[in-house]
Order: sequence, then structure tokens, then C-alpha cells
Amino acid sequence: MQKLVEISGLSVRHGNLTALEDVNLDIYADDFIGVIGPNGGGKSTLVKSIVGLQEYEGRITLAPELEGGHRIGYLPQINNFDKQFPISVEELILSGLQASKGLCGRYRKEDRARAASLAEQVGIAHLLRRTIGGLSGGELQRALLCRAIINEPRLLILDEPANFVDNHFEKELYDILERLSKEMAVVVVSHDVGTITSVVRSIVCVNRTVHRHATAELTAELLENYHCPIQVVFHDDIPHTVLPRHDHSHHHHDSHHTH
Ligand SMILES: Nc1ncnc2c1ncn2[C@@H]1O[C@H](COP(=O)(O)OP(=O)(O)OP(=O)(O)O)[C@@H](O)[C@H]1O
Ligand SMILES: [Mg+2]
Repeated sequence: MQKLVEISGLSVRHGNLTALEDVNLDIYADDFIGVIGPNGGGKSTLVKSIVGLQEYEGRITLAPELEGGHRIGYLPQINNFDKQFPISVEELILSGLQASKGLCGRYRKEDRARAASLAEQVGIAHLLRRTIGGLSGGELQRALLCRAIINEPRLLILDEPANFVDNHFEKELYDILERLSKEMAVVVVSHDVGTITSVVRSIVCVNRTVHRHATAELTAELLENYHCPIQVVFHDDIPHTVLPRHDHSHHHHDSHHTH
């Protein structure tokens, strides 16, 4: 299977803080990876490094067709800044084509049709003309998903796509990702370990260091041995409940509670 990304000896420092230390990770064309870990563990830093938005030490080698960000779809973790661009939902979705078109490329009729079709699939067709400033979190998240996939990427990276979306769309979202994972490598950051482990094929635990496991081999002990500060309760081998462990957290963030 083709290797799309090779990460070796990756470290990221912010002043005195080491966000990632000596990370080695390969991503293959048929991968469907869930990225888990505590707040501040370095998940966003890791995916930003891959998409070229983060300075780092070490080496990240992309397959030739991914060079320059072509064919990498990326859905960033939402922050308030994102909504301040005065563009319409349609323009936001179409901006996912810019990596391959360049900034002055014009959108074709087919591009607009594809944007409309994607919007339709995620239930925001009625919002195409709206500016993104007034969108709810869930609506913006859906639009960002369309932007991430409009370029038919070989590698799709989503940073907490289930944030802000309601339970109904969350289920649909994972169905969509499952479908997409048959055509492209998918990497999805999530706090909902119970749900994500039932969807993806491998889990990458990020807590300054990074460890990868096949979902099938995932056990509570394994997570603990690798200092993944997450406790998973297994019922019939299905990860069921996730409780944050507070003892060796060195961060001040509130932990997420998932039941
Ligand atoms: N630009 C920055 N300047 C200083 N510190 C930063 C910067 N970006 C990230 N960090 C720090 O690096 C660490 C890793 O952050 P990162 O956003 O990767 O965590 P995360 O695992 O995505 O967390 P969350 O679950 O909250 O999204 C955190 O301690 C964060 O405060
Ligand atoms: Mg993050």
C-alpha cells in the first residue's frame, strides 16, 4: 500500500513548551485513523505539521502528489477567528479548490455544481448564499467539511469535526467519513474515544509523544501503558465509556467528559 506521509523525528516547541517530541508516524493510502489524546496533548499541532501550517524540527515527507498541499483536505478545529472572513458559504466551500487552482483560478460551473451537491449532502444547501459570520457552529462545521472534500483529496484530515454538530449529524458525519475512507486516507481527531474506535481502523494516541495501535488490539491496559490519559471501559470488547484521568495531567484545561 502506498505511503502518503512519513513523519520521522518530529518535534514542535513553543518557547519552553514541547508540544511534540520525537514523533514517528507513517500514513498509508488505505488508512482510517482516529487521533485521540488529552486537551493540549498536541493533536492539532500534529495535523497542522502535516498540512504545512506549523514549524517543526525533524522530517515530514509527503508523497509526490501531496506536495504543496495538493490533494490534502483539511478541516481545522474551529476557532472564533474563522467566522470573521466576510465570504459566503459557497465561497468558503469553493476555497477548498484553491490548492490546485492557485489564487487567481476561476471557478467553473462544474465547481459550483459540486459545491452545491456537497452542501446538499450535508444539509446546508439553503445556506449557500449566506455569509459565514452568521452561521451556527454546526452549520459552519458542515461547510468546512464540504471545503475539505471538494478537491477530492487523497488524504483527508479533520480536527474535531464532531464539535458543535448535533447527535443526528454526528452519526451521519461518521457514515460520510466511512464512505470517504474507501477512496482516500482519513485522519480524524476526536475526543469521543468510544465512538471513534468503533469507526476507524487504527488509533493514534497523542500526548507529547505519539503511539499508534490497530483498533482491534486496543485495550485499556495498552492505552495506560502508553500514557494515554484516557480510561476506556470495555463491554464485549467494544470500548464503551471514556473517563479522563486527572492524575498526571500537566495542563490547566478542563477535561472533556464523555459518557
Ligand atoms: N502558537 C502557540 N503558541 C504557544 N503554545 C502553543 C501554540 N500552539 C499550541 N500551543 C501549545 O501546544 C500544546 C499542544 O496544543 P494543541 O493545540 O496541539 O493540543 P490539542 O491536543 O489539539 O488540544 P485540544 O484537545 O484542546 O484541541 C498546548 O499546550 C498548547 O497550549
Ligand atoms: Mg486541538
